[in-house]
Amino acid sequence: MPDQTITSVSRENRKFRPSAEFKAQANLGSEALYKRLYAESVNSPEKFWSKQAKEHLVWRKPFKQVLKWQAPHAQWFLGGKLNVAENCLDRHLGTQRENKAALIFEGEPGDVRTITYRQLHGHVSQLAQVIESMGIGAGDRVAIYLPMIPEAVIAMLACARVGAIHTVVFGGFSPEALKDRINDCKAKLVITADGGWRRGKVIELKANVDKAVEGTPTVQTVMVVKRCGNPVTMKAGRDVWWQDTAAAAAKPHKAKAFDAEHPLFILYTSGSTGKPKGVLHTSAGYLLGAKMSAHYVFDLKETDRYFCSADIGWITGHSYVVYGLLANGSTIFIYEGAPNQPEPDRFWQMIDRHALTILYTAPTAIRAFMRWGDDYVRRHRLDSLRLLGSVGEPINPEAWIWYHTLIGKKRCPIVDTWWQTETGCIMISPLPGVTATKPGSATRPFFGVVAKVVDDQCREVPRNSGGKLVITQPWPSMLRTLWGDDDRYVRQYFSEFPGRPEIYFTGDGARQDEDGYFWIVGRIDDVLNVSGHRIGTAEIESALVSHPSVAEAAAVGRPDELKGQALCVFVTLKAGYAASEELKEQLRSHVGKEIGSLAKPDTIRFAAGLPKTRSGKIMRRILKEIAAGGAVKGDISTLDDFSVVAALQSDE
Ligand code: WT7
Repeated sequence: MPDQTITSVSRENRKFRPSAEFKAQANLGSEALYKRLYAESVNSPEKFWSKQAKEHLVWRKPFKQVLKWQAPHAQWFLGGKLNVAENCLDRHLGTQRENKAALIFEGEPGDVRTITYRQLHGHVSQLAQVIESMGIGAGDRVAIYLPMIPEAVIAMLACARVGAIHTVVFGGFSPEALKDRINDCKAKLVITADGGWRRGKVIELKANVDKAVEGTPTVQTVMVVKRCGNPVTMKAGRDVWWQDTAAAAAKPHKAKAFDAEHPLFILYTSGSTGKPKGVLHTSAGYLLGAKMSAHYVFDLKETDRYFCSADIGWITGHSYVVYGLLANGSTIFIYEGAPNQPEPDRFWQMIDRHALTILYTAPTAIRAFMRWGDDYVRRHRLDSLRLLGSVGEPINPEAWIWYHTLIGKKRCPIVDTWWQTETGCIMISPLPGVTATKPGSATRPFFGVVAKVVDDQCREVPRNSGGKLVITQPWPSMLRTLWGDDDRYVRQYFSEFPGRPEIYFTGDGARQDEDGYFWIVGRIDDVLNVSGHRIGTAEIESALVSHPSVAEAAAVGRPDELKGQALCVFVTLKAGYAASEELKEQLRSHVGKEIGSLAKPDTIRFAAGLPKTRSGKIMRRILKEIAAGGAVKGDISTLDDFSVVAALQSDE
C-alpha cells in the first residue's frame, strides 16, 4: 500500500457545499432524502431495485424475480424481457423529445452534425436490418473499431437492437490488439471506417482492420464507414460500404424483446496477467444502473447538453455517452479529435459554440489543460456550464481547484466519480445537490452500493487507515463474468478473502475519512493507470519480450504530473544486441505496434540484470523506487543479488 499517497491526500480538508441555487433545482437536493433512499437501497435492495426498474425501464414483459444471487454469480430481473435500444430510442418517439437533438457531433476538421431522436432511431433501424440480413442475430459478436463519430453510437445501438453482443475496440489499439480481441470473442462482423481525424492527420483504421483480419477466421464481413475519404482496399465478398448498405435500407424495424440477462456487450480491459479480460455486461441491470446514476449524478435536465470527452472504446463511453444518457432522453455532444487541435482551447470553444451544460472528463486531460495555460481558457465564456465531472483516476487537489475555478467559475459542482469497467456504472460519487465535496475525494457510495475498506482478513479498518476497497453486496450493473473464462472471473474478483465468495475486490486501495468519505489511493495489483487507462504490466512485458533483442522486461509506473502514472520499462538484452537510443525507439514502436500507442513506454532503461527474489520473481517494488528516482527502501532481504540494484541506480 503506497502510504505516501494516503498521507498526502489527507492534508486536503477544504469543503465545498452545493449552492442554495443548485440545490433548489437539483433532482435530489436534500441530505435527508439521500440518507433515506440510500438506507432503503442497501437494507431492502430487492424492494428498492424493483421499484427503480419499473420506473426507469420500459419492459416488454415484467420481471418475476428481482435478484438471484449465487455468489459470486448474480442474475437480475429474471423473467423480464426488454430491448435496450428501444429503451434508448423508441420510448422517446411520440413524446416531446422526438425532435430533440439526441446527438450533436463535431468532427476534428470542424464539421457539425445534429441528429434528432427520430433520426437516430431511423439510422439504428436501418443498420439493424442490414446486420440482420448478414445473418447476425441474438448472441453473435460484432467488433466495432470506429472513431468518435455518430456511426459509432448507431452501431452500438443497432447491435443492441438485434441482440448481438458488441465489443468496441478503441481506435488507438493496434492491429495485433484488435486481432486478439476479435479472436477471443469470435466476432463475425467488424464495423470500421476508412479513417478518423486526429491532430490533423488521418488514422488509417481500415488498413489496421485489414491487417487484423488476416488472422481472424471468424470474420465474414467488414463494414466500412466513409469518413475521411482516404484510399482503402475493399476486398470483394468481404468488405462493404456502410453508406451503400445501411443508408439504403428501409427504416421500419421490428425490435425483438430479449431476456433481462441477455448479454449486451463485452469490453476488454487490462488485468495483471497477459491476456486482456473480456468483461461481460448484460441488458436490464446494466441499463438501469447507467440510466439511474446518470440521472442523479449528472442531475440531468431536459435542457442539458452533455459532453463526455471519453471515447466509446472505454466503459465511460458506453455508460455515459451512449446508454445512460440516451435512456434519459438527453442531448449528447461528441467530438472526434484531439483536445489541442487546432489550438489547446478546442474544448472551451466547443462548449461556447454548442452551449454545452455538463462536462465529464479525466484528470489527465485537466492537467494537460493546466499546462497549456489559463489564457486558452480565459478567451471563452463557459457560462453555459452548470456541472463538471471527473473520472478515471484520483484527481489531485490542485487540478480539482483549477477545474473548479477556471472552468466552473466556482459556480459548478464537481462530481468526482469512482467506478470501473467491471462495475458498469458510477459507484462512489457526490450527488451534486446534496454532497459537500472535498477536492480529491469521490465522497460517498451511490444507491445500492455497499463499499468498505478492509484488511487482509476482510475486517473493516478504522477510519483514516488504508486498506482494500471491496463491495459487499451485488448491484444490478455489475459484470456477470469474463467472456469464455468464468474461473478467471471468480479468481480475479471474488477470491481475495477465502470463504467469502460474495465479496467483490476492486483491486484498489482506499481509505475512509472521519466523515466516511472515500479517498481512492490507486491500484494495488500490477495494473497501471496511465492517462486514465488501465494497462497491465504483464501485457507490456510480453509485448517487449516478443522483440528479438529482448531477453527479459519489467514494466512499472512512476508518478507523472500529467499522466498520473508514466510507464517505465527495464529491459535486459539478448547476447549480441547492444543498448542504443535507436533500439529504444525501435522498442517503443514495437510496443505501439503490439498494443497501441497508449502503451508506448515513456522511459526505457537497459539493464544487465533485473532484481529478483531467490525464487526468480522480479521485485517490482524495487524497480518502482528506482523509476521514481528515489533510494531503494524497505526490505531487500529476499533479493538474490544486490549488485543488480546498485548497477541500476548508478545507471541514471
Ligand atoms: C480504475 C478503473 C470508470 C471509468 C474509467 C476507468 C481508477 C476510476 C476513479 C476516481 C480514483 C479512479 C481506479 C479504478 N479510477 N475513477 N474517480 N478516483 N480512481 O475505468 O479502466 O475500468 O479503470 O480507474 O483505480 O479501479 P477502468
